[in-house]
Amino acid sequence: MRQTGFIYGGDYNPEQWLDTPEILKQDIEYMKAAHINEVTLGVFSWSTLEPQEGNYQFDWLKQIIDNLYENGISIILSTPSGARPKWLADAYPEVLRVNADRTKNLFGGRHNHCYTSLAYREAVYKIDKKLSEKFGNHPAVTTWHISNELGGDCHCPLCQNAFRGWLERKYKTIEALNKAWNTTFWSHTYQNFEQVESPSPKGEKMLHGLNLDWNRFVTDQTADFVSWEKKAIRDGGSELPVTINMMYDFRGLNYYKFKELIDIASWDNYPTWHKQEEKVTALDTAFQHDFIRSLLKKPFLLMESCPTSTNWQSVSKLKRPGMLSAASLQAIAHGADSVQYFQIRQSRGASEKFHGAVIDHYGGMDTRVFKEVTEVGSKLVRLSEIAGSTTKARVAILHDCESRWAMEDAQGPRNKGLHYKDTLKKMYYGLRKLGLNVDFLNMEEELKGYDLVFAPMLYMFRSDIETKIRNFVTAGGTFIMTYWSGIVNETDLCHLGGTPHQLMDVFGLRSMELDALYDEDRNSGKSTGIFFEEEKQYECKNFCDLIKTDSAQILLTYESDFYKGLPACVRNSYEKGTAYYICADFEQSFYDDLCKKLAEEKQLVQVPFTIPDGVSVTSRENDTKTFLFIQNFNEEAFSVSMQDTGWKLLMGAETGVVGQYETAVYWTEK
Ligand code: GLA
Ligand code: ZN
Repeated sequence: MRQTGFIYGGDYNPEQWLDTPEILKQDIEYMKAAHINEVTLGVFSWSTLEPQEGNYQFDWLKQIIDNLYENGISIILSTPSGARPKWLADAYPEVLRVNADRTKNLFGGRHNHCYTSLAYREAVYKIDKKLSEKFGNHPAVTTWHISNELGGDCHCPLCQNAFRGWLERKYKTIEALNKAWNTTFWSHTYQNFEQVESPSPKGEKMLHGLNLDWNRFVTDQTADFVSWEKKAIRDGGSELPVTINMMYDFRGLNYYKFKELIDIASWDNYPTWHKQEEKVTALDTAFQHDFIRSLLKKPFLLMESCPTSTNWQSVSKLKRPGMLSAASLQAIAHGADSVQYFQIRQSRGASEKFHGAVIDHYGGMDTRVFKEVTEVGSKLVRLSEIAGSTTKARVAILHDCESRWAMEDAQGPRNKGLHYKDTLKKMYYGLRKLGLNVDFLNMEEELKGYDLVFAPMLYMFRSDIETKIRNFVTAGGTFIMTYWSGIVNETDLCHLGGTPHQLMDVFGLRSMELDALYDEDRNSGKSTGIFFEEEKQYECKNFCDLIKTDSAQILLTYESDFYKGLPACVRNSYEKGTAYYICADFEQSFYDDLCKKLAEEKQLVQVPFTIPDGVSVTSRENDTKTFLFIQNFNEEAFSVSMQDTGWKLLMGAETGVVGQYETAVYWTEK
């Protein structure tokens, strides 16, 4: 069944309701009433699908799928590997995970299998293949959802062996490994690969190269597990697209490594709305939407979100009226082709019985939440021509997982917080305030095609990023980088001969020393009048890089401490482009001014009005039209005037006002 328009639905667990067919029947009526056109099935159904080893019971699922299909509801079908049946753990104890302290888990919970265990892989392969044979060509099934929220590591003997093999393939000789990890430090030199153990709180954890490679191995092994599941699906005869549901700011896996494996990117979004100012949460969420969209640079799926409150946050506050619509349309505004919930019907028992759902324990349609869910559904129907359109960005931010792993593991100038993500967000916010779409890139990607590329704390240079940056600037691009960049190589060995490594000529400077500040310390940078307005001053904290300029022009100078008068921000013309170097952790207004000036220079701003703080503007495009989303996360209403701008109203703001949590959508011919 081909989806037209947006996908609207979410996780549905009919296996918990098989003995109440009247409820299952009612669910379908409720879905239709709420404009729900999709459900995700099978995420945790293994013990119902295979109650004993080899005894596959698929008829109940077939009936559910057929019923849904007859009612126009499509299916994203999950493989069940996110949680295994008890019989499997009993018969093959090796499937249970071993923790970093080398203790073995008992059966329980979920998401805790050994991803190397052949016994686990074989059981998963068999059931996935059978599911694919049985349902992979069912007209209702559109997509495969592999496992659930993959993450975590396993330190069992099987994983140790796999890790050693991974290292041997990477380094070839133990000498090369010793050199790459600098193991002569504290006499930790290895004689052979057999001696290497995964990092452990009880053993080795100070070899940063080991920690880094372990993280890489865990990503590779998890990706290998996903390709194993994908193969089972393909061997079962289904060629449908696959996705994995990713998580918010998850650092356990390098999500970029899953790009080649998945056809659609998706993620599970559970912000703590109403905990702080809405605009702050909105920005943070927007960031994650853009990160996920950037993985494949095409529409993604909002695989899970909560129709009201979760039950696992420290305080599970209800979504205020209107918030559901704002949060759901925010995903659409940032390029999603779906709004999906966890969960359609609330469970009766166990750990998620109080988690919000479309249908709660009361079981009626006359609930506040159900009404809001229905409203969101009708809005998505109204906006359906936007589905499939893409997001075009002319600015990008480098956000590299491996560099972040290394930087946050390194014992360096500030072990109590690098504020990496805060820095990244200040750049992102500066750009988003102008209504610019933003892509995120990792170092393996190309920089060409963008006008501006920002790089906060690009600690590790890998994948020949130094050449990419040089070429980008040479060709006329503007590259903006901060302190603590170009410090180490791919295995976390410090670069010799000056930093930023191999780019000192491009930036026209050398970083001499990095001062780390206590939390309460402050310095500031004063404008030299060359670029920022005369008399402008920006406060900075946490880090102050002391640089020696060569050809770079000084834009700000430090105002206090022994380095008063030294450059705090510079720019350098290099070939056809410009490279900016930001020496300190400056306040938001610095990034606001910088982004505004650079966007003006490159004529990037398309929005025909000044965007107030707390109002978000994004755009999507198809072959013929551009769509503009205006969302208000402030309490005060925002009056929008689009007269004589060429933008026509598609939804919302009929009175020219966008109220709190409201969304207005405009369009124009391309
Ligand atoms: C995650 C899981 C779901 C569910 C929700 C609850 O996203 O994937 O199975 O547990 O959290 O918020
Ligand atoms: Zn293992």
